[in-house]
Amino acid sequence: MRGNDVLANVVASQTALHEAFGGVVPEQASREHLNVIDQVCQQALATAGVSLAEIDAVAATYGPGLVGALLVGLNYARALAWSRDIPFIPIHHLAGHIAAATSQAPFLCLIASGGHTSLFDVPAWGDYLELGKSRDDAAGEAFDKVARLLGLGYPGGPALSRLATEGEASAYAFTPPLRQQTGFDFSFSGLKTAVATLLRNQPDANPADVAASFEATVVTSLIHVTTRALEKTGRTRLVVAGGVAANRLLRERLEALSAELGIDVSVPALELTTDNGAMIALAAQHHVATAHTPDARTPDARTPNTPDALTIDAAPYLPLQPVKPT
Ligand code: KG4
Ligand code: ZN
Repeated sequence: MRGNDVLANVVASQTALHEAFGGVVPEQASREHLNVIDQVCQQALATAGVSLAEIDAVAATYGPGLVGALLVGLNYARALAWSRDIPFIPIHHLAGHIAAATSQAPFLCLIASGGHTSLFDVPAWGDYLELGKSRDDAAGEAFDKVARLLGLGYPGGPALSRLATEGEASAYAFTPPLRQQTGFDFSFSGLKTAVATLLRNQPDANPADVAASFEATVVTSLIHVTTRALEKTGRTRLVVAGGVAANRLLRERLEALSAELGIDVSVPALELTTDNGAMIALAAQHHVATAHTPDARTPDARTPNTPDALTIDAAPYLPLQPVKPT
């Protein structure tokens, strides 16, 4: 990045590698990170037309995620920053997803990805109040599992969504998740089981109808809970981020919600929706611009660019919490 402009965004996809197994095999994923990280960085520099000597800060994800993959990125980025004596900025993965959609707080934020489905109230950049989250499967995880039941391969979300366009969303009336709740949680594993049971009992069910009915139930649940959270918080800006924000039906329903409630809805550009490097750089840029230190739980916040800053401290489990203003 230069200023607020993204000069290059190189993504090395591991889809082909994971397809054969129907999901991510962690050890394979980290080895592949190690194989490609250097060439991805070289390619990003070449695309941006920038030399390593011109780089004045390096950012990388420190959590949450698969620890092997996190360690590869974190150590590469730390070593690079340390060798050049420039700042290293550790970024929370979800802060990256949010940054891909907006830089302007306050807002209410729905994050729906393969690993997370959460609602945050964000009064200021770096200040995150979790209102609710999935009690079981994440929305993207449910898409992937149901796609697998339908024999659609990995990752299933985009394929299931494509198939759903050929089906009838009213064909199957799945029970909406957590109908009685007064809070802001989500739940998708019961719905996934309902699809599995349906396919077992009715092997001739039309897959496109099943896909459309499932997709509509997930999207309606996301919209309902989010609408209630908007009413409770009184926020007039909504940010929706994470891989599931690429979903066509969700984007349509968000547009309708924006018109109905007269609120501003921000979703990332499609290429910034699923995991990518630019979203991490954008979050780092916002941290710098708003003078927030990196998360106080990382050694970088305490001892920037000392040998201590090379400590291996990837955080596989890491709730998104407020960072301390400087
Ligand atoms: O944010 P992301 O790239 O990775 C994680 O941090 O998890 O999200 C990936 C998830 C996968 O579960 C994928 O199936 C889902 O996002 N996804 C979609 C669509 N595109 C990606 N789900 C539904 N419809 C889509 N168009
Ligand atoms: Zn993600």
